[in-house]
Amino acid sequence: MSVRKRVGVLISGNGSNLQALIDASYEQEYPAKIALVISNKSNAFGLRRAAKAAIPTCIFENKAYSNRENLERDINLALHKADCDIVCLAGFMQIFSQKFAETWEGKILNIHPSLLPSFKGLHAQRQALEAGVKITGCTVHLVTAKVDDGPIILQAAVPVMDKDNEASLSARILEQEHQIYQKGLAILATGLIQIKGRRTFIAQASSNMQHQAFSC
Ligand code: GAR
Repeated sequence: MSVRKRVGVLISGNGSNLQALIDASYEQEYPAKIALVISNKSNAFGLRRAAKAAIPTCIFENKAYSNRENLERDINLALHKADCDIVCLAGFMQIFSQKFAETWEGKILNIHPSLLPSFKGLHAQRQALEAGVKITGCTVHLVTAKVDDGPIILQAAVPVMDKDNEASLSARILEQEHQIYQKGLAILATGLIQIKGRRTFIAQASSNMQHQAFSC
């Protein structure tokens, strides 16, 4: 296997998507390794997950910074110090500047709990329930400076059940997030993505990764 890409994962909370990436990286053939976990919350549970997996962590709390530029500078420094090739946002609740997004252009991924471009921003699952859609889901996409924007790499659909509330729908979407995030990272890490405008194309070798069936 060629050298694994080194990944910095940015979190703010529970870190279940981080866990999914850590678990995937234990597979011998997985093309990426989690080299660093950064949190902007010192009490994020994901930090414990990282410690358990012996992954170095950094905490950069917003309140310690007078401006976003300095915060992003320190995040960037930490990522470079850890030799990260790729950045994964995993429930990282902060918007990046154009400069940061450009620095990592094509190398930074996000997971969002809706079928983008629907329901961007906070409480995407609540937005889906309020809009009355029958199908929602989750999206892995490349990050731009716009919130929950950027070329889509993978999506998984999740039907909305009559009995769903925000918690039950979020839980079923999260199961799918854990599946597609590690696949999306593998696709990026193996350099299989071609980007044309807003569309991404995945090279033959992983074409089975392109389509997510209804699996719930
Ligand atoms: C996930 O549902 C993720 O999609 C969402 O935050 C949650 C984090 O859960 N991210 C966004 O809404 C980004 N716009 P986790 O900490 O258990 O991975």
